[in-house]
Amino acid sequence: MITATSDNNLALAGKFADAAREMGHEADIVNLAELDFPMFTVARSKELDVVPGMAELKAAMSSADSWMVIAPEYNGSMPPTLNNAVAWLSTQWKDFRALFNSRKVGLATHSGGGGEHVIMAMRQMFSYLGCNVLGRKLASNKDKEANPETIEDMLNQLAN
Ligand SMILES: Cc1cc2nc3c(=O)[nH]c(=O)nc-3n(C[C@H](O)[C@H](O)[C@H](O)COP(=O)(O)O)c2cc1C
Repeated sequence: MITATSDNNLALAGKFADAAREMGHEADIVNLAELDFPMFTVARSKELDVVPGMAELKAAMSSADSWMVIAPEYNGSMPPTLNNAVAWLSTQWKDFRALFNSRKVGLATHSGGGGEHVIMAMRQMFSYLGCNVLGRKLASNKDKEANPETIEDMLNQLAN
């Protein structure tokens, strides 16, 4: 479970992780907001040999069979924590294709509104990177709780 923010989306990541464990799977949560990476620029990427936390993130992501990416909508798109982490991941290693290609990815959001735009933005980015993104997604907000049946179905699809 990769969450881009620390409030409702972290809580939603917790729901996915709890449900996965109840279904007999191993699940961990990575919080990109907490990792607090510096902003990616090409100049900075040439200066910084080691970005604190990046090796751990890559190890966690590469050892997982599949990912749930859980992020709020920001300005009709994804939050900078997510875009920034993927920029670092895609440039720090020659084998970035091995990290993303064929990886099963599920998308979920807790947003201020419907969350369709962040789902679309994430779908476009992860598909571009070669991931197999599930057609089904979970969108929630303060008036629409995360549907447990959707969580279970998405986890089943990611596990099979
Ligand atoms: C900079 C910023 C931009 C936002 N833009 C949108 C938006 O375009 N659409 C939307 O539905 N909600 C938007 N929101 C609301 C967030 O999606 C909502 O507060 C969400 O719960 C934040 O995630 P969190 O609770 O995990 O921190 C925005 C919030 C911030 C801080």
